[in-house]
Amino acid sequence: MEIKIFDTPDAVAPACADEFTSLLSSKDYCILGLATGASPVPTYRELIKRFNAGVISFKHASSFNLDEYVGLPRSDKNSYYTFMHENLFNSVDINEKNVHILNGNAEDTEKECADYDAAIDAAGGIDIQLLGIGTNGHIGFNEPSDAFSDGTFKVKLTDSTVQSNSIYFTESAMPRYALTMGINSIMKAKKIVLIATGTSKAEAIKNAVKGEVTPRCPASVLQKHPNCIFFLDRAAASLL
Ligand code: GLP
Repeated sequence: MEIKIFDTPDAVAPACADEFTSLLSSKDYCILGLATGASPVPTYRELIKRFNAGVISFKHASSFNLDEYVGLPRSDKNSYYTFMHENLFNSVDINEKNVHILNGNAEDTEKECADYDAAIDAAGGIDIQLLGIGTNGHIGFNEPSDAFSDGTFKVKLTDSTVQSNSIYFTESAMPRYALTMGINSIMKAKKIVLIATGTSKAEAIKNAVKGEVTPRCPASVLQKHPNCIFFLDRAAASLL
């Protein structure tokens, strides 16, 4: 894995956006793996800026998002469906029919997950997968556990993730489950870019980069990916 460290969180976004810019400019059709959370927002802003300047277009791209909460209506302000539309899709020229986000309200979640993996494979696989990282080392919603997950699946959120989410939800509305691409689905991406900023991520980054490869820190599996770049600010990199 390659590690790139920047002085400030603001300096991370243009560098990470460059990865998307060169892919979108060099391939006839791109499959983008996208992520939610605060970490990728500056990168999305930068991509919107470049779209508005005529530098990039999403007309010839499809997207697959990493994860979605179970039981939240898509219209909920905290659904990842709403997040992606507000932070990227509504501001660029991606065709809505090429946007794929897991349906956390599907009646048959197993089928929803299997169909999602099949759709990624049918599209030719993900060219570039964007990731954030949870303070407990999770990627997507692959929480620390005894074994690395395989394909897309339904997961129970850990207490630490529920705690991190408490800034967004009231206790009664707090989602306890999510659908997420599995570790194997993520590792199949041709390229992976992970963004982490701030001291709250320093421990997770240390474990992911320098620790043993273990499902107790799901992001540590990225050490085994042949084409993975971590984009960090000094604070997130402070324990390396
Ligand atoms: C959620 C998302 C992850 C994200 C993580 C960190 O758990 N499912 O994909 O990486 O939050 O979010 P943030 O970037 O807001 O710290």
